[in-house]
Amino acid sequence: MESTRNRLIELLETSNHDYVSGQFLSDKLKISRSAIWKHMKELEKDGYLIEGVRRKGYRIVKSPDKVSENTLHWGLKTNWLGKNIIHKTTLDSTQNTAHDAARENAEHGTIVIADEQTKGKGRMDRFWHSTKHKGIWMSIILRPSILPVAAPQLTLLTATALADAISEETTAAPKIKWPNDIMINNKKTAGILTELQAEQDRIHYVIVGIGINVNHSFSEIPETLQHKATSIKRETETEYPIVPFIQCILQHFEQTYDRYMTEGFSPIRTKWESYGYKIGEKIKIRTNYKVSEAIFRGIAEDGALIAETEEGIQTIYSGEVEWN
Ligand code: BTN
Repeated sequence: MESTRNRLIELLETSNHDYVSGQFLSDKLKISRSAIWKHMKELEKDGYLIEGVRRKGYRIVKSPDKVSENTLHWGLKTNWLGKNIIHKTTLDSTQNTAHDAARENAEHGTIVIADEQTKGKGRMDRFWHSTKHKGIWMSIILRPSILPVAAPQLTLLTATALADAISEETTAAPKIKWPNDIMINNKKTAGILTELQAEQDRIHYVIVGIGINVNHSFSEIPETLQHKATSIKRETETEYPIVPFIQCILQHFEQTYDRYMTEGFSPIRTKWESYGYKIGEKIKIRTNYKVSEAIFRGIAEDGALIAETEEGIQTIYSGEVEWN
């Protein structure tokens, strides 16, 4: 049923707002014309505006931008990611719901998404502001067969997928600040929180949490963060439909993840560096209570930051970096 509806939307959308005859749809989908009509009614319930004209057929006048399991599924061009979607209007944190679902054996590629979060989690136990309908707040459940030590590569991989999707869907030029912040015009617009449940040599599951400030106006960004956080709308003066944006992220994520699984981290590293924030520029690193000036040279095969100091090349694994 669902894939028929997906095909139906695809056929209507490729017609570029021209009418598509009921007979054509019924031949293509191998279902009766009255079944086509019923599908149209279902689409309307989810916010599609469809015009049906006798002897001409149907056309989509307007696609919905209401996030739901259905609207996300329809038109989603992935093979395994997002086949199972859990959408809620309000959650404390999509991470918590994703952990619960994973413990109950939710399949690899399950998505948990909310219109708002009341206790959004950032890295280092920080609070993540998740205003209703203004951004993308979602968690992806993965069951990768990699060693737990390689899990940080999933964060870097996710960052490249986000940067690709932002470049495709918007006019912004995203940069990735090591390890996992997406910056636009030197301000943070998205973050990634990777949590895993693992034994020493085996991952049970990984939850990749993604938060993106999309359609916040300036005043909707908390005052205390306005000097360092932003939204894509604020930087590009354009409001973006959320549903195709999420679908685009999922498509890029799946492609990038599949590539990582077949080719390893090397192509991801090249892509990451093409978006790298301040590569070749001065940064400061903190080692043994000492702050040294360094040049940020890129990332290592294991995802560590490579910095060149007076004492030579150093690799940094966690946040002892000052960017300004
Ligand atoms: C960070 O940069 O500190 C990471 C932010 C991650 C926020 C996302 S929003 C969806 C998911 N649910 C959460 O509670 N956090 C992540």
